[in-house]
Amino acid sequence: MLILILLVVTSLLSSSSGLAPAGPWDPFNYAPQSRTVRPRSVRETVGSVRGAQNLVSQKGEATLSGNGSWLTVDFGIEVGGLVTLNIHPSSKSSGLALSFTESPMFISPVTSDDSTNSAINQSYDGILHVAQPLADGLWTQPASTLRGGFRFMTLVSTSNDAVAISNISCSISFMPHVEDLRAYSGYFYAKDPAFHDCDFLTKVRQNPSSAYTVQTNTVPVNTGRQVPFVRSPGWQNNATLGVAGPIIVDGAKRDRAVWPGDMGVAVPTQFVSTNDLIPTRNALSTLFSEINPSTGALPESGPPLSQLGSDTYHAWTLIGTYNYFLFTGDTQWLQTIWSNYTKAVAFLEGKVDDTGLMNVTGLRDWARLGGGGYNSEGNALLYRVLVTSSELAGYLNQTGLSAAWSQNATALKTRFNDAFWLPSAGMYRDNQTTTLCPQDANSMAVLFGLTTSQEQAASISEGLTQNWNDLGPVCPELPDTISPFISSLELQAHFISGNDVRAMDLMRKEWGYMLYTNLSVQSTLLEGFTANGSLGYRSYRGYSYDASYTSHAHGWSSGPTSALTFYVLGLTITSPQGRTWSFDPHLSGLTAAEGGFETPLGWFGAKWELLGSKGGLKVQLDTPPGTSGSLKLPVFGKVTIDGRSAQLDIDGTLRLRGGRHSVVVVP
Ligand SMILES: *[C@@H]1O[C@H](CO)[C@@H](O)[C@H](O)[C@H]1NC(C)=O
Ligand SMILES: *[C@@H]1O[C@H](CO)[C@@H](O)[C@H](O)[C@H]1NC(C)=O
Ligand SMILES: *[C@@H]1O[C@H](CO)[C@@H](O)[C@H](O)[C@H]1NC(C)=O
Ligand SMILES: *[C@@H]1O[C@H](CO)[C@@H](O)[C@H](O)[C@H]1NC(C)=O
Ligand SMILES: *[C@@H]1O[C@H](CO)[C@@H](O)[C@H](O)[C@H]1NC(C)=O
Ligand SMILES: *[C@@H]1O[C@H](CO)[C@@H](O)[C@H](O)[C@H]1NC(C)=O
Ligand SMILES: *[C@@H]1O[C@H](CO)[C@@H](O)[C@H](O)[C@H]1NC(C)=O
Ligand SMILES: *[C@@H]1O[C@H](CO)[C@@H](O)[C@H](O)[C@H]1NC(C)=O
Ligand SMILES: *[C@@H]1O[C@H](CO)[C@@H](O)[C@H](O)[C@H]1NC(C)=O
Ligand SMILES: *[C@@H]1O[C@H](CO)[C@@H](O)[C@H](O)[C@H]1NC(C)=O
Ligand SMILES: *[C@@H]1O[C@H](CO)[C@@H](O)[C@H](O)[C@H]1NC(C)=O
Repeated sequence: MLILILLVVTSLLSSSSGLAPAGPWDPFNYAPQSRTVRPRSVRETVGSVRGAQNLVSQKGEATLSGNGSWLTVDFGIEVGGLVTLNIHPSSKSSGLALSFTESPMFISPVTSDDSTNSAINQSYDGILHVAQPLADGLWTQPASTLRGGFRFMTLVSTSNDAVAISNISCSISFMPHVEDLRAYSGYFYAKDPAFHDCDFLTKVRQNPSSAYTVQTNTVPVNTGRQVPFVRSPGWQNNATLGVAGPIIVDGAKRDRAVWPGDMGVAVPTQFVSTNDLIPTRNALSTLFSEINPSTGALPESGPPLSQLGSDTYHAWTLIGTYNYFLFTGDTQWLQTIWSNYTKAVAFLEGKVDDTGLMNVTGLRDWARLGGGGYNSEGNALLYRVLVTSSELAGYLNQTGLSAAWSQNATALKTRFNDAFWLPSAGMYRDNQTTTLCPQDANSMAVLFGLTTSQEQAASISEGLTQNWNDLGPVCPELPDTISPFISSLELQAHFISGNDVRAMDLMRKEWGYMLYTNLSVQSTLLEGFTANGSLGYRSYRGYSYDASYTSHAHGWSSGPTSALTFYVLGLTITSPQGRTWSFDPHLSGLTAAEGGFETPLGWFGAKWELLGSKGGLKVQLDTPPGTSGSLKLPVFGKVTIDGRSAQLDIDGTLRLRGGRHSVVVVP
């Protein structure tokens, strides 16, 4: 018991360095110790290869003899950056080429996994030839041929004369502004005895996985995929991605571009893991700088892609602006983009016709089919835009505008329920001429508060499980697809509707699959996969049946990171920087959880544990002085706060001032 208390006290102490406290969660931080990483093992050798293990021990050379002999090294986790190695050719005609892949499925001496474009031959990218004649000595990959995400690298001899190699390393290119990749500002820790790997939750939340995935997506501004795409074979990652760097993009290998929908999940991850939001500000500034001055339309993606024509991604940029402001309280920045922001809200409001619903005409979206006209997903996003815009206008003291947006939000909520609720299904339908009940709009409706009762939310949560197989929910709106992006939203909907255990089941199925499957990198999260777990995500929807094009490090799949913090731990902020917060833990079938995050106001930490079998609860809460919050407890009983007995309000909540509190509930 004494040991336990000491652990509580130490772990709740926040260091002034902006780092999360040290503890038993640290072993799950597999981010590299150094920005220079080296192969951890040899995966494969083919042909005449000598001394391959020397590349791991760093004690000598490996020699490839004969045209086509090759070997593959494994960096152990997803990495990205420029490779350096020593080359020792045996003659002037010796030749060497490199290929890269995230998944071991695409290890090949003739091509990399595809990142430039998808092609049914799965060999768009090809290999990188080292310029001939090979120079004896240290070689570094040219900057424009950067591979942003890979785990396996293959070296192949391209001539009959032998070539020796040694001293392979990769200089990590992501998180260019941070020396120590393991320096997290937040953490989460819980044992999950119900799962085959009881450390699963800590792994999926911490590292390797969700938090590390977003780190691999935080890149220098001049490392974007070249557009128009370079011709096959080849790749080039030296395009400019925005107005400033570092900048947050959708994926490590590809697209390497700013996508605001993706940020809807990736940015909350960033907040609770590194609290490093400059890359987000740079991404948002980039999108606002590309607003269409006459219509107010925002691009669907950042440059050089600068894809146009998506009402939903337009909405995500506005929602992302709110998220950024909530986490940082950066009023100065908000004021600089405000006139463009209001134009962009007006752009969406202009699509609301006399039915009171938005007619979605910018049809591009996260890949789902349909989506046009009076569509529920688009209108759910508009509702969230109006609610958050109203709040932002309030922070800027624009009370009239704030009230007008709020009023329109309320009207839209009523129309939304009239138009889309399908009583026979107990869910929302995609539009008024279908009975298809999509995963996206139903998850968003609960998450954004479009439901009008707890029963309605519960019905949706239950209804969503009809889509589940052993690996996760198969989207009705994109058949044969499991989307960890939309599932990240669904996950939150289950917690919000009070179905914690269901949310945990979803996490174990879907994120368990992504984390452990040997088709992927076992360190970062897939962009998506098919209903049977294969890598052919979007095969029939733009990806040319090219499973090698799928990204294995996509921040939009990182939903568990913020969900474990905001719902399971139960600590979340409700106004900029956490001046107000809420603590509402979800027991989720666990016996204890702890964690925390920081904001510019300081450290927000909590630890809860069930007391014995009687159902009591003990909580340690630590929030900055000067803040205040509301406390809600998941068990009933006699409550004491800091040793004094306390009475909850009629709604079961209690206001608390910031500072350190200990709460005990005895049944
Ligand atoms: C994955 O594991 C299965 C079962 O052990 C094995 O048959 C398969 O070859 C492995 N696949 C890869 C790509 O390593
Ligand atoms: C090496 O093999 C490739 C593929 O078989 C062939 O195209 C190429 O001409 C060969 N190079 C030499 C130097 O023999
Ligand atoms: C080995 O590679 C590193 C870069 O990772 C380089 O700094 C070093 O000089 C190389 N060693 C030799 C002996 O060339
Ligand atoms: C693969 O397909 C792409 C796109 O059709 C084409 O440009 C490329 O030449 C093909 N590569 C090979 C090796 O056939
Ligand atoms: C990218 O690199 C290629 C090859 O070095 C070069 O031709 C091109 O001009 C570069 N593009 C940019 C935008 O720097
Ligand atoms: C606002 O939009 C204009 C185009 O109308 C653009 O030139 C300007 O850079 C944008 N300002 C900001 C701060 O994004
Ligand atoms: C939605 O707007 C488009 C483009 O203006 C129009 O063609 C279409 O008829 C509208 N849909 C409805 C249902 O009004
Ligand atoms: C209505 O939804 C269905 C199912 O998603 C879809 O097939 C159809 O295209 C949608 N209608 C419009 C106008 O987008
Ligand atoms: C809004 O008004 C309050 C009270 O007058 C003031 O403290 C605050 O600085 C104002 N905020 C902005 C962004 O102008
Ligand atoms: C509120 O909705 C009405 C009706 O669609 C619209 O005319 C008005 O511009 C909206 N107000 C704001 C502030 O967007
Ligand atoms: C998995 O599904 C894909 C279609 O998405 C199909 O091509 C593949 O054959 C299936 N794999 C297995 C093992 O059933």
